[in-house]
Amino acid sequence: MYGLINKAIHDFVLDQFDQATWDRITERAGIPGKVFEPMEQYPDAETYTLVASASDVLNMDPEDILSGFGHYWVIYTGIHGYGDLMKSSGSSFEEFVSNLDQLHTRVGLAFNDLKPPSFKIKREDVGTLLVTYTSERPGLVPLVEGLFHGLAERFGQSIEIEHLGPGQGEHDELFRITVLEEPDPDKAIDSVTAGCPFTPDAKTE
Ligand code: HEM
Repeated sequence: MYGLINKAIHDFVLDQFDQATWDRITERAGIPGKVFEPMEQYPDAETYTLVASASDVLNMDPEDILSGFGHYWVIYTGIHGYGDLMKSSGSSFEEFVSNLDQLHTRVGLAFNDLKPPSFKIKREDVGTLLVTYTSERPGLVPLVEGLFHGLAERFGQSIEIEHLGPGQGEHDELFRITVLEEPDPDKAIDSVTAGCPFTPDAKTE
């Protein structure tokens, strides 16, 4: 995966904990002091090992780490050079999820070897969506759930997620998502209201 992801995991740990915790995580992962460059590619195994090591060091379930990171990622990308892309991808949870494939296609213009996930959305009923997540990478359902919750908060909405299990395709996972509220700008959580330590227009790439 591109280093952008691993670097965000580093920033997530520093934001929630401290440098010493990150050092323990990289040591346990067998990559002490490793610095990740956003535009360089690293083996997926390194990302999975980082999550497993974080789970050991922090004594947290890996699922909780993935879901917390997914939540963080929505804010992170908004302030690390991708704010315009995030803004132009929709103004409600449903609209944004419908545009996720397009968003990653645009990301792929800069990251040539991107192997992005795919999200297909179908309205089942008023306020109920069936979302198919497709990825060859295993074990990332909790990440996707955290991302969905982060996206809903971005628009001041709340959602309930039911993971229905594998879908029809070999690499499909199916979710039923109930959208409980309309978008509400007064409740929307952006980088500033989230109390994120980074400045809104900080760019690290
Ligand atoms: C502008 C914002 C975003 C950027 C720049 C971005 C970029 C990326 C990058 C670089 C990867 C690694 C893929 C690779 O290296 O092959 C990735 C993976 C991923 N992205 Fe995004 N992304 C963004 C927003 C989102 C959002 C809002 C979601 C919400 C669902 C999302 C879902 C995922 C997932 C689940 C993966 C893991 C890879 C997989 O499932 O196979 N991304 N993204």
